[in-house]
Amino acid sequence: MTMSLFDLPGIAESWQEPLAPGAVILRGFATPDETALLSALQAVIAMAPFRNMITPGGFRMSVAMTNCGSLGWITDSTGYRYDAIDPLTGRQWPQMPELFLRLAVNAAAQAGFTGFVPDACLINRYEPGARLSLHQDKNERDFNQPIVSVSLGIPAVFLFGGLSRADKPARIPLMHGDVVVWGGPARFRYHGILPLKEDYHPLVGEQRINLTFRKAG
Ligand code: SIN
Ligand code: FE2
Repeated sequence: MTMSLFDLPGIAESWQEPLAPGAVILRGFATPDETALLSALQAVIAMAPFRNMITPGGFRMSVAMTNCGSLGWITDSTGYRYDAIDPLTGRQWPQMPELFLRLAVNAAAQAGFTGFVPDACLINRYEPGARLSLHQDKNERDFNQPIVSVSLGIPAVFLFGGLSRADKPARIPLMHGDVVVWGGPARFRYHGILPLKEDYHPLVGEQRINLTFRKAG
């Protein structure tokens, strides 16, 4: 019998791609859990549906969002913040599924951030045309903690810029199963998503789901 590297489960499917000091892409890291992740996601959105939030400037976001975990990120006419209560349902956000937590902790550790325990998972749904303009993540309390971002579904182009809005961002294709981790010297890098192109993914359909884990409180 001949064995190649690609016969070894858990090794060939996932590899690391350095992005910048403090930032790395774990290609395919979430793929082994894809089915369980998507069914846990269904349970979350049954309790806290996707909605298009309004920015402080009065614009309706093209990305639909919801959250799970003890804190959720929200925006409305009064600003951006984390809140324990979903303003749409008046109830707490759904608990973070065990699998979500485990995936985020393991991805952070792979990237060198041991001890990361997220309390917030922002769930973004991009349909074709949806985009996320360049921004920094800075509503969290402890900036020593990284951001862990999981891509599922159709591909997207991730913009990964510098510490200044004017720095020209790199354009990085993100595919189903990819996980990006950024922290330390990369924690305040500007990032965003280009308008999504139409495509189809056999498990997720004509959309991209992004799970962004943070230690918010
Ligand atoms: C985010 O910055 O919150 C999401 C990035 C992504 O969708 O990959
Ligand atoms: Fe972000």
